[in-house]
Amino acid sequence: MQTDPIGLMDSGVGGLTVLKEVQRLLPAENTVFLGDQARLPYGPRSVAEVTTFTRQIATYLRQHANIKLFVIACNTATAAALTQMQAELPVPVVGVIAPGATMAAATTANHQIGVIATAGTVKSGQSQRDIFAADAQSQVVSVACPQLVTLAEQNDLHSAHAQEVVTQNLAAFKGTGIDTLVMGCTHFPLLQDVIQTAIGPDVKLVNPGVATAEKVAAILKDQDLLNVSGQ
Ligand code: DGL
Repeated sequence: MQTDPIGLMDSGVGGLTVLKEVQRLLPAENTVFLGDQARLPYGPRSVAEVTTFTRQIATYLRQHANIKLFVIACNTATAAALTQMQAELPVPVVGVIAPGATMAAATTANHQIGVIATAGTVKSGQSQRDIFAADAQSQVVSVACPQLVTLAEQNDLHSAHAQEVVTQNLAAFKGTGIDTLVMGCTHFPLLQDVIQTAIGPDVKLVNPGVATAEKVAAILKDQDLLNVSGQ
């Protein structure tokens, strides 16, 4: 059981930003990742559809890799399906929204927090709820940025075109006074440099993958599931 892998899923390459943080924090753990690029993007899809996809992937990873913990390394799928997957699966299930919210609350000084995410995540209101639960004084401005998913999938991360698209998308935050911006789609940390340039040096970026990895570590430790065998 302890040598069984941690399973992670996303609609595409974004989940790799979470996998990277899990591997950094827990180098002894085995991992398996599934990026559902055949059905990307998840952002515009219905809650029912994203829940079905998430369930299919969880079942596949249980059957074929015997995963000991499931990370929904996708904000859209976390918003749609976390509660249901936690109820259905016999292993711990971790999402990315609450860890990012906790991190944002610990980062902000002025309680003005921005979130960039997919349309599905923004529509769910889950980031706002989780940030508010972590910081009752917070005011949250959420903006859907689906074009950034396309840039990340095309590996167009540093070009003048990428900078232009990101700058246009982030113009919505002008005058909002945010001091913290949550990269609330797991694809977005791949664009961290152009995002930081667009939003300016005074706004701190939050990568929820870091806090998600910490949550995974805490659960594994708690449930005596850490891989201590070296296999
Ligand atoms: N990476 C996913 C997320 O964190 C979504 C990208 C998409 O498929 O639209 O929300």
